[in-house]
Amino acid sequence: MSELKSFLQAKSNIIETELSKYLNTNEIPVILQQSMSYSVDAGGKRMRPILILATIEAFGQPSEKGLPVACAVEMVHTYSLIHDDLPAMDNDDYRRGKLTNHKVFGEGMAILAGDGLLTFAFEIMSKGTYEGVPIQGILQIVRELALYAGPKGMVGGQVADLEGENKTLSLEELQYIHQHKTADLLIFCVRAGAILAGASEKQLTSLTHYAQHIGMAFQIQDDILDVMGDQEKMGKQVGSDEKLNKSTYPSLLGMEESQRLLEEHVQSALQALAEAGVADSGVLASLARFIQQRDH
Ligand code: IPE
Ligand code: IPE
Ligand code: MG
Ligand code: MG
Ligand code: MG
Repeated sequence: MSELKSFLQAKSNIIETELSKYLNTNEIPVILQQSMSYSVDAGGKRMRPILILATIEAFGQPSEKGLPVACAVEMVHTYSLIHDDLPAMDNDDYRRGKLTNHKVFGEGMAILAGDGLLTFAFEIMSKGTYEGVPIQGILQIVRELALYAGPKGMVGGQVADLEGENKTLSLEELQYIHQHKTADLLIFCVRAGAILAGASEKQLTSLTHYAQHIGMAFQIQDDILDVMGDQEKMGKQVGSDEKLNKSTYPSLLGMEESQRLLEEHVQSALQALAEAGVADSGVLASLARFIQQRDH
């Protein structure tokens, strides 16, 4: 695990340096730039961009070519957190160990910072050079970010999450929410890395299954941490789901069954990863375990 820790730290540093290069520009109105940077610079695990880089490296290739897409997806993810925390949504006060964006900059600016990060992501991604990657592959990645983050993906999941408040959902409905609000963006990351690395269709299919399972595992653990986690470590308040009367894995199934399903998803992810037959699956396998065991 400590080997993985240094991998995560090294990749986070690279991604954060790259993100600040994009954000430190005087072409953005000062207050908007401050608001966007406030949430991006606050930290976070950088799990999504790291997944892109790790997937490229699993094919034995240098991951630098994934950096524009990695920065883009972290911006999309950060936008989704800013909006998720708004009073009209989860109404949370803390994120990444700091006050939420709207608490500092006001709701209007928080909404616009989210809008800014979402659209900036597409500018950054389409400006990348991607040496050796066919143009069809690049277009596919751009299309897939819009798809997995958009109304058929993450936004659709957030809608179901919002509409599910104060209701006891069926497990099927909850699976829809988790699949779309969280797993879809992780699927995008693994697929984008694989496409950049020139994966075969068969490898892409297996890696998509891997990502789908780690995505579900990621949100089940998020639900568990919302009940059992340590606020200090997580940098966000616990008990947010209960406060809003949301259906979650622990609330519908109990803690033990949630842990069992989490383990099942990790097992399925590892199996799909083995089927992908990449050059080196070590880091992707460790990431699946990390997602299950994380405490923040
Ligand atoms: C939180 O994501 C929102 C979910 C989709 C569960 P992360 O747990 O990846 O948050 P950061 O990026 O580390 O802050
Ligand atoms: C958030 O899910 C998913 C997205 C932001 C797309 P949650 O609402 O459970 O995430 P946290 O717990 O606030 O980080
Ligand atoms: Mg939410
Ligand atoms: Mg939330
Ligand atoms: Mg949560």
